[in-house]
Amino acid sequence: MNRPLIRIDGLSVHYPLKGGLLGEPVVLRAVDRVSLEIPRGSFFGLVGESGSGKTTLGRAILKAAPITEGRIEYDDGEGRHDVGAMKNKGEIRDFRRRAQLIFQDPYAALSPRMTVRDIIAEPLEVMGITRSRAETDARVREIAARCRLNVEHLRRFPHAFSGGQRQRISIARALAPTPRFLVADESVAALDVSIQADILNLLKGLQRDLGLTFLFISHDLSVVAHVCDHVAVMYLGRLVETAPTRALFARPLHPYTRALLSAIPSLDPDDRGRAWKLQGEIPSPADPPSGCRFRTRCPFARERCAAEEPALRPLASGHEVACHFAEELEGAVPA
Ligand SMILES: Nc1ncnc2c1ncn2[C@@H]1O[C@H](COP(=O)(O)OP(=O)(O)O)[C@@H](O)[C@H]1O
Ligand code: SF4
Ligand SMILES: [Mg+2]
Repeated sequence: MNRPLIRIDGLSVHYPLKGGLLGEPVVLRAVDRVSLEIPRGSFFGLVGESGSGKTTLGRAILKAAPITEGRIEYDDGEGRHDVGAMKNKGEIRDFRRRAQLIFQDPYAALSPRMTVRDIIAEPLEVMGITRSRAETDARVREIAARCRLNVEHLRRFPHAFSGGQRQRISIARALAPTPRFLVADESVAALDVSIQADILNLLKGLQRDLGLTFLFISHDLSVVAHVCDHVAVMYLGRLVETAPTRALFARPLHPYTRALLSAIPSLDPDDRGRAWKLQGEIPSPADPPSGCRFRTRCPFARERCAAEEPALRPLASGHEVACHFAEELEGAVPA
């Protein structure tokens, strides 16, 4: 089997905060001891409520968040990098070219004073990928066409475009340096449902035609269900379940995953959506519950859940879950 494109081993991203009431040090555990493999060529979904650490994990992979402990290895077949240890300028430049972020908010991300042509051309010029204006223009036109932007669009400024078109411009810019890996962080969250499908189709088409690997971050499990081939579910800095998408939806094993699913009536395997509504808010990652982090909201929590943290363990081929009672809770309904 191919080596995975990304291999994450025991990764933590902790942020020191100002201190508690008594001045004691407080640490916010945005990502806590996460291990994960992203297969080459996959469209890998990372899902969880806001505040679960998805963006931080995506940024850490791109060397844009501080690694407190653990290791991230990136291997696209042309170069193998230890993301945290990388110090050599040439190596970092090469990595930055191959691993790109598609911004979450195309309104904020696109400079209002640059034409679309210049927005897409900038990474090509800054990274020294193209050597002449003619070469840059040719490359910009080619990428724009791939992202279904017209040639006339290239002379205009971002404010002239709709949300969906701006997202295409963002995608074109991320594609310009010919990346192998893209992190799409809530790339459709701000768009109307009708336009979401359009952008998702574009991303899937790019993945297929260019052999790219995507980390697709979303708080919305129904979007993930439609486009991803693998899914990792994250809660309060920890992974709670990972599986091929089909297996996850056919047999969701973690109570948190089942709660997220039951919020989508058409996907609810129990078809008892109401009984399953997630209660309360996600706790603070600066003060996570002991044992299982989901226990303060889990309808099945017992004594052991507070005392002992469940490890992520395989329950079926490629399907891992972090719940002490996953087997016996399958099909159980909250009282
Ligand atoms: N630079 C930072 N400094 C301190 N806390 C941060 C920083 N970045 C993110 N956080 C905190 O880390 C937690 C996870 O955030 P984030 O990764 O953005 O989650 P998600 O993308 O799942 O909503 C949140 O509590 C957030 O406030
Ligand atoms: S370990 Fe306990 S609290 Fe955590 S998900 Fe399983 S049953 Fe719920
Ligand atoms: Mg986020």
